[in-house]
Amino acid sequence: MDSHYLPEPYRIRVIEPVQRTTEREREQALMKAGYNPFLLESDDVFIDLLTDSGTGAVTQAMQSAMLRGDESYSGSRSYRTLSQAVKNIFGYNFTIPTHQGRGAEQLYVPALINKCERDKGLERNKMAAFSNYFFDTTQGHTQHNNCRVINVPLPEAFNTKIKADFKGNFDLKALAAGIEEVGAKNVPYIVSTITCNSAGGQPVSIGNLKAVYELAKSYDIPVVMDCARFAENAYFIKQREVGYSEWSIQEITREVFKYADIFAMSAKKDAMVPIGGLLAFKDDSFLDVQLECKTLCVLLEGFPTYGGLEGGAMERLAVGLYDGMEEDWLASRLQQVEYLVNGLEALGVRCQQAGGHAAFVDAGALLPNILPEQFPGHALSCELYKVAGIRGAEIGSLLLGCDPETGKQLPCPAELFRLAIPRATYTQAHLDYIIAAFKEVKKRASSIAGLKFTYEPKVLRHFNATFEPAL
Ligand code: F0G
Repeated sequence: MDSHYLPEPYRIRVIEPVQRTTEREREQALMKAGYNPFLLESDDVFIDLLTDSGTGAVTQAMQSAMLRGDESYSGSRSYRTLSQAVKNIFGYNFTIPTHQGRGAEQLYVPALINKCERDKGLERNKMAAFSNYFFDTTQGHTQHNNCRVINVPLPEAFNTKIKADFKGNFDLKALAAGIEEVGAKNVPYIVSTITCNSAGGQPVSIGNLKAVYELAKSYDIPVVMDCARFAENAYFIKQREVGYSEWSIQEITREVFKYADIFAMSAKKDAMVPIGGLLAFKDDSFLDVQLECKTLCVLLEGFPTYGGLEGGAMERLAVGLYDGMEEDWLASRLQQVEYLVNGLEALGVRCQQAGGHAAFVDAGALLPNILPEQFPGHALSCELYKVAGIRGAEIGSLLLGCDPETGKQLPCPAELFRLAIPRATYTQAHLDYIIAAFKEVKKRASSIAGLKFTYEPKVLRHFNATFEPAL
């Protein structure tokens, strides 16, 4: 049978009940939450698209693997299972399990910055790390260690009118020019983020990753792969990059990971676990960093053979790494994102080109009457919740924040609103409901108000800020 749409390639056998609410109840819940959907009770949310991190379904094989957990404090058998899976899949020799992605960041970021300072006799405030785009926590950890961050995405990365196969790629010229300007000895690391979350889950090509790695090696700069969505990225490579259509996801993954020295993974995404992360080293070229990470791990996460995880969770993660690479499954997942984006665009709601894990709606285009300082993405977030009980997240001026020196709002390249799709959690009927909700929001667009702060935290303000409508 020739079917364009591949039905979900799984059966659902455990269900989590959710509550329906009325628009009046949602209005009250939103007011109580200070017009910040982050502060809603999850029971008041009908479809939760705040994140795809740790919120998806797990497979039977993952669930049953948990029973094999060896909870020994040191030398756990489950640690060996996990590090063997990392070796087989990625070709990396040494693994530290962490409680999630930022657990890995709090180990490698200071260790690499310390190494740069130690080996090159530098002052930290002169240092700058580069990325196609730093995820918030990677940026936060880098800045917390007194090192600047510089993003070098493609010039078209945030232009929702332009489509490109690998919109998450580094701008190689900007990277080379940036390294020259800062001085190679002042660059403690380059982070290759796959897929590039901040640019809309856009993939990065092998050609680009290889060029970044070769440039980095010519300057003796370590490369870290921030690889939360490594399997989605590999699937896009298979579909779009010349020469890889016959390769398996596992073969592509192995090739991709040649172009880094260290990887840091939030396993809550493509490895499908509710909690977990990994820090891994390809070989012994950064032995001093490895040793410092092990010491920091004892201090911050736990003994390095369990890090931030119980034995059962290490077993589940070892299986999740494989299950997350299933090709049919990845095809269905990415098709969900595409279906949602196409449905929204058909209504005239402009989106970033469909990426890996989420639809990114151009809220600036949908609500042109709301100024960036009154947060169109956040206003859209509140309205969508009111209309249909759907929760998403602003990715725009509110998230970006203020210049720490001047205290002024930083100019944001796009006012986006993210609908992240948890893995194997919602069906096509849910996607149709989301599209219908947008039809209603679009009707109301001209009467939707922006928001102003009633409380503005100094850092990471989007999590805890409260607002009122700016009427
Ligand atoms: N790197 C990337 C690219 C991420 O997307 C995330 C998390 C992290 C690192 C940090 O990992 O949350 O396990 O500590 N992204 C989530 C999101 C929170 O919603 O996109 P973590």
